Amino acid sequence: MTRAVVPGSFDPPTLGHFDVITRAADVFQEVLIAVVQNPSKTPLFTAEERVAMLRDVAAEWSNVEAEAFEGLLVDFARERSAAVIVKGLRAMSDFEYELQMAQMNHHLSGVHTLFLPTSPEHAYLSSSLVKDVARLGGSLDGLVSAAVAAQLKERYS
Ligand code: PNS
Repeated sequence: MTRAVVPGSFDPPTLGHFDVITRAADVFQEVLIAVVQNPSKTPLFTAEERVAMLRDVAAEWSNVEAEAFEGLLVDFARERSAAVIVKGLRAMSDFEYELQMAQMNHHLSGVHTLFLPTSPEHAYLSSSLVKDVARLGGSLDGLVSAAVAAQLKERYS
């Protein structure tokens, strides 16, 4: 039984995140979405809110769960007996930083990171751009789920 951790800020989760989570759920027996409690920037949504949004989606699969974590990702991965970290890659611009994190995480713990490419139709999506669009009243169709769009609209109303 291989358990994979899919970590991130998910502030908010986008359709690009869901795409990576779906792909990970196709490949691994168990997927644990790891929501960082305190991202470097002050989040728009609390960790509890982000976990709830992800659990909504995770309910579609029997092998996906979501949980918040604090501290080092690799400590959380080991506590939860996860053998691998899965990260989505949108473009080459993601690669340099993701490679650095993967190497640091391996150095710290020996835990491997696997990269999954996002589908091209989601390649331009990011949580920060989605927040900008929401804040300025743009359409969120095709960017986030209807449930996440409703929460974004409420937050910025
Ligand atoms: O969605 P993001 O913001 O790109 O996710 C970044 C995340 C949560 C994966 C990264 O910041 C992280 O792993 N944070 C936990 C602290 C940690 O382990 N830092 C060392 C990583 S090399």
